[in-house]
Amino acid sequence: MTSVSSPSETTTPAVDTPTVPTDAAGREMPDFAVPAPLASHGPARIIAMCNQKGGVGKTTTTINLAAALAEYGRKVLIVDFDPQGAASVGLGVNPHDLDHTVYNLLMERGTSAADVLVRTGVEGLDLIPANIDLSAAEVQLVGEVARETVLSRALRDVENDYDVILIDCQPSLGLLTVNALTAAHGVVIPLECEFFALRGVALLVETIDKVRDRLNPRLEIDGILATMYDARTLHSREVVARVYEAFGDRLLYTIIGRTVKFPDASVAAEPITAYAPDHPGADSYRRLARELVSRGDAA
Ligand SMILES: Nc1ncnc2c1ncn2[C@@H]1O[C@H](COP(=O)(O)OP(=O)(O)O)[C@@H](O)[C@H]1O
Ligand SMILES: [Mg+2]
Repeated sequence: MTSVSSPSETTTPAVDTPTVPTDAAGREMPDFAVPAPLASHGPARIIAMCNQKGGVGKTTTTINLAAALAEYGRKVLIVDFDPQGAASVGLGVNPHDLDHTVYNLLMERGTSAADVLVRTGVEGLDLIPANIDLSAAEVQLVGEVARETVLSRALRDVENDYDVILIDCQPSLGLLTVNALTAAHGVVIPLECEFFALRGVALLVETIDKVRDRLNPRLEIDGILATMYDARTLHSREVVARVYEAFGDRLLYTIIGRTVKFPDASVAAEPITAYAPDHPGADSYRRLARELVSRGDAA
């Protein structure tokens, strides 16, 4: 791994060596191999997509990373853990029509994950949907015994059926997010490449540290994912440089560019890998999938 040096100190390649592709922080870009097919599935590595700021790309990353992993033959489950239900809607599931969602899974002892799980249009990708009912859980859980571990226990039934479970968190650090962090092995933190991106990240990291200390010793930060990157602006490059300065190699090599294809794909209720399979946006999430698998952060 490269050392945590200032991103401006990139090494100049010798005259006769071909220029190596670099990431936005100036690091030499590794060639992440296509993951080998799996002979069998599970147990899942559980990843929480987390940032208490809204609009940073959590849901977009959850859907498209999941779809890219599924393309590589992984069995993937998305847990929509935001009462807005954006991950459900983005996969073509209208959560208002559903009687059984993640809310029932959390709050009813007789309901198991298999009862609330739905198949999506993407082969190998299933979903536990959410709708506005989930907002009540935040309040109702407060009175429960072991209120932080409810999701973790609820997922135990299906953990062995999947290679990766992605939890799409809501934009808050409340009890639902603490449940996601308690259930997870890793956290991916999407950060929008804009000026105030780092504001609030210290508090998020502190929350992750507390959950690790008190509830879930296995919890790791898998990486920080720069999203909505615009290579044409100095601004985007500065933000990435700043994130690299602050977090070093926790910054994932993969950077997600800003493109209207992502909102377009959400309107079509498809992952970008299905909506525009040859678009660079689809390739960037495939690269993210390969990066996480090659680091051992996904199966
Ligand atoms: N890389 C991107 N380029 C352009 N728009 C994006 C990108 N990623 C997400 N978006 C759009 O930005 C909005 C917020 O993204 P979303 O994934 O819903 O964020 P969050 O779940 O963190 O609130 C959505 O309209 C989404 O389509
Ligand atoms: Mg979201």
